[in-house]
Amino acid sequence: KCVAVVMGGYSSEYEISLLSGGIVIEMLDKNKYDVFAVHILKTGWYYVAHDGTKYDLDKGTFSFTYDGKKITPDVVFNTVHGTPGEDGHLASYFKLLNIPQTSTGFYQAALSFNKRDCLSVLKNFGIKCANSVYVNKGSDITPQEIVKVVGLPCFVKPNRAGSSFGISKVKTLEDFDAAFTKAFKEDSEVIIETALKGTEVSVGVYSHNGALQVFNPTEIVSENDFFDYEAKYLGKSQEITPARISEEETTKVKSEAQKIHKLLNMKGVTRSDFIIQDGIPHFIEINTTPGLSKESIIPKQAKEAGMNLTTFFGILVEEALA
Ligand code: DAL
Ligand code: MG
Repeated sequence: KCVAVVMGGYSSEYEISLLSGGIVIEMLDKNKYDVFAVHILKTGWYYVAHDGTKYDLDKGTFSFTYDGKKITPDVVFNTVHGTPGEDGHLASYFKLLNIPQTSTGFYQAALSFNKRDCLSVLKNFGIKCANSVYVNKGSDITPQEIVKVVGLPCFVKPNRAGSSFGISKVKTLEDFDAAFTKAFKEDSEVIIETALKGTEVSVGVYSHNGALQVFNPTEIVSENDFFDYEAKYLGKSQEITPARISEEETTKVKSEAQKIHKLLNMKGVTRSDFIIQDGIPHFIEINTTPGLSKESIIPKQAKEAGMNLTTFFGILVEEALA
């Protein structure tokens, strides 16, 4: 089978996607799969050969010509974080072309990438989340009105973005201006959430032969004020798997992650982030193309579960093809 590992994208998470894609290419079993790297950039889509040569890709068919042969991949391994990989665009494109892919369907991706909409659906099903306020660009809501709902400190986040880009922790009313400017650089919609106090954990869920598998939670200990970009990718945090939480909390948060994956009808691997406050997991967000780089959480959880990445990525490909 021919696997196209799709990476890049149009968001601030571009560089991280290249790291994720690179690891997937390195680890996929070459005895089993012909592996191709496909880069999606604003300036064009292309296949990159082993020697670094770029070959144009025909977007109408998702095919490219290499060595005089036209190649259309049998399956896509989606490692594009943010847009267009995680917000449903690529999922619907591949659906129309009838090419299976490793991530969730377009609707599930679009819904879950929109923090406001995802939280509102999950709250309806009784999932605990922080209080939040949604703000559209141009809204005249005041910091005072926001603080009435969420209190201080709170987080100001782009409504549709990942890897902590555009997020600020706000401690005083005066901090809002700068926080909004930063968040609106990433998105025209912003969400403000109460900063919960507790242990931050992240839980991976994937399906294998029709059964959902849940990894042990990873605990995130940030040297910075929160798990921001620097903490995530520049070594300013510690990720501990399994998390140092009680057995009861572990069971609770794993079952919550599984429930959310199921409620949202997810496919492939997802990673849900929580803050455990007073023993209760509060849902923060779900990632439908979670990071797979060496610094990322899912690879660490797979290792902790005794699985090497070749096996794990192989499972994701086979699930997509099933
Ligand atoms: N959005 C980043 C890549 C993650 O969830 O790991
Ligand atoms: Mg995320």
